[in-house]
Amino acid sequence: MGSTDAGAAIVSFGPNDAVGLAEAEVGCFDRPWSAEAYATEIARPFGQVFGVRGPGGSIVAACCLWTLPPSGELLRIFTVPSARRRGLAAALLGRAADLARRAGCREVQLEVDARNAPARRLYARSGFSEIGRRGDYYGPGGDALILSRRLVPGTPDAPLDGTRPLS
Ligand SMILES: CC(C)(COP(=O)(O)OP(=O)(O)OC[C@H]1O[C@@H](n2cnc3c(N)ncnc32)[C@H](O)[C@@H]1OP(=O)(O)O)[C@@H](O)C(=O)NCCC(=O)NCCS
Repeated sequence: MGSTDAGAAIVSFGPNDAVGLAEAEVGCFDRPWSAEAYATEIARPFGQVFGVRGPGGSIVAACCLWTLPPSGELLRIFTVPSARRRGLAAALLGRAADLARRAGCREVQLEVDARNAPARRLYARSGFSEIGRRGDYYGPGGDALILSRRLVPGTPDAPLDGTRPLS
């Protein structure tokens, strides 16, 4: 399924990865997804779950995307703490854009808690901009920002630089 600039392969996850995905994202979210939730996403005809494994084979980063032309919807993205700031999430966003474009989508949308500064910076750097806001969606002071990135047909994402090797 391709690779990051550092050579870490981006792989597609299947039903056998549902438990590993749920285990990997513990500590990344206040409300982690269960293995059943991942299994549901993997089984959806319009769902794609993909990511990166570390040297030992465990999942270190993952992304869940719906491709429903004309829009793609990014439902989930995480990198385990020990593998952060190596460009993995940025590489997965690039892959999500390519997959959505290939499926005929003209944009990718996602929702982010306005208080999540690292994610907001990641998305801004990856070409997403705000198109809407849901006040206090995540609780008092936690507006949900709706972000979108437009996709130009036939224009794959340029290779990302700055991806650091996994150790
Ligand atoms: C947000 C998250 C996915 C970023 O993953 P990552 O693999 O570390 O991100 P990358 O290394 O690809 O970062 C790319 C850019 O995003 C920005 N960024 C990422 N993490 C950041 C942080 N902690 N602080 C500031 N900027 C950050 C930077 O611009 C970074 O580029 P740089 O390292 O060259 O400065 C990760 O921190 C995470 O899993 N957080 C918990 C789950 C989450 O919040 N998911 C998003 C929900 S909407």
